[in-house]
Amino acid sequence: MKSLQNKNILLGVTGGIAAYKSAEIVRSLKKMNADVRVVMTKSSHEFVTPLTLQALSANPISSDLLDINAEAAMSHIELARWADALLIAPCTAETISRLASGRGDDLLTTITLAFDGPIAIAPAMNQAMWRDSRTQDNVSKLVANNTLICGPGTGEQACGDVGIGRMLEPEEVLNIFSSLFKSGKLISKKVVVTAGPTQEPIDPVRYLTNRSSGKMGYALANAALEAGAEVVLISGPTDLNAPEHLHFVSVRTAKEMHEAVQHHLNSTDIFIGSAAVSDYKPSKEYKNKIKKDKGKKSISFELEENIDILKGVSSQTKRPFVVGFAAETQDVIKNAREKLGSKNLDLIIANDVSKTDIGFDSEENEVTLITPRDDYFISKNSKKAISKKIIDFISEVI
Ligand code: C5P
Repeated sequence: MKSLQNKNILLGVTGGIAAYKSAEIVRSLKKMNADVRVVMTKSSHEFVTPLTLQALSANPISSDLLDINAEAAMSHIELARWADALLIAPCTAETISRLASGRGDDLLTTITLAFDGPIAIAPAMNQAMWRDSRTQDNVSKLVANNTLICGPGTGEQACGDVGIGRMLEPEEVLNIFSSLFKSGKLISKKVVVTAGPTQEPIDPVRYLTNRSSGKMGYALANAALEAGAEVVLISGPTDLNAPEHLHFVSVRTAKEMHEAVQHHLNSTDIFIGSAAVSDYKPSKEYKNKIKKDKGKKSISFELEENIDILKGVSSQTKRPFVVGFAAETQDVIKNAREKLGSKNLDLIIANDVSKTDIGFDSEENEVTLITPRDDYFISKNSKKAISKKIIDFISEVI
């Protein structure tokens, strides 16, 4: 279940006897390198202690919608934004009914309303309660709402009954749950992504660079990977860890990035140029460190234009679907649309970097996808969530 690696999983625990299995679910999720936060309903505290789940998840437990301290640390909206997927295990008949009717009167149900990613539940209840037509109607509503239903299983129940209703074993739940991350939309496609800044040396200790963190490009590479693509990530220097299960190429200068792109371009289906490539580089690289000259109030360097990596791809005769980025501070859409034409792109992703809460180095972004035909706005969300939407969009139009 490698697909859960680096995922933010919000585990909802509700008040059923199977709540003891949630400890095993947290442990397994952590083993798979997912980051786990647990939201417990009040009644679940009777079955498993918050301390247990806090210790296993290594994150504070959230329980109360009206807890000022908890909301100050991470509000229900922030939890909903943080999560890549929500799993409610065990999920009682009562919670199923409340989810089906869109209630928002406790922390867990409020988060499900605020969350626009995938939701899975692992029902757990007495066999008669599961078979009851009202429960079945509620489950049908959730299915119609794209909720993934993991189970329930059949067998002996805590109350002594035998039948369908018991929660699946943690491993079975997680096997089904992890299928949420395999869209398969880009299976057998090759995707090359550039990310991060470039560094253009001035002398052995100084360079010209920019504020790109690489987060957007890495998130896009991960989203393409989850969609089943073979991914090459060509990255300038960043503080991020190289993602697993893709071909990672580390570069420094625009020239190195260009060479790596050209080297890996063969049989590429989609090229995404998200790197913030330095448009200019010093015309000359000094061999020795430039010394401070006390007599001089100013010094100047000549800069020359760097090679345009994106144009290098879009000008190929047998070219992939080419996606560029336009980080703009004014006339964002107009400038991006012009760039779409001048760089001969299939898609450009425009973002306004004059806003401090999105874009450069931020965890979040807000973008407009612009094609030669139309625009598609993606409202503010985590870079992970935005990347998934971008990859979904690309897989629809290629
Ligand atoms: O022209 P501008 O730098 O604003 O264009 C941004 C887009 O072009 C980004 O997708 C960036 O990765 C790409 N680019 C490039 N090579 C350059 C400059 C920008 O590939 N030298």
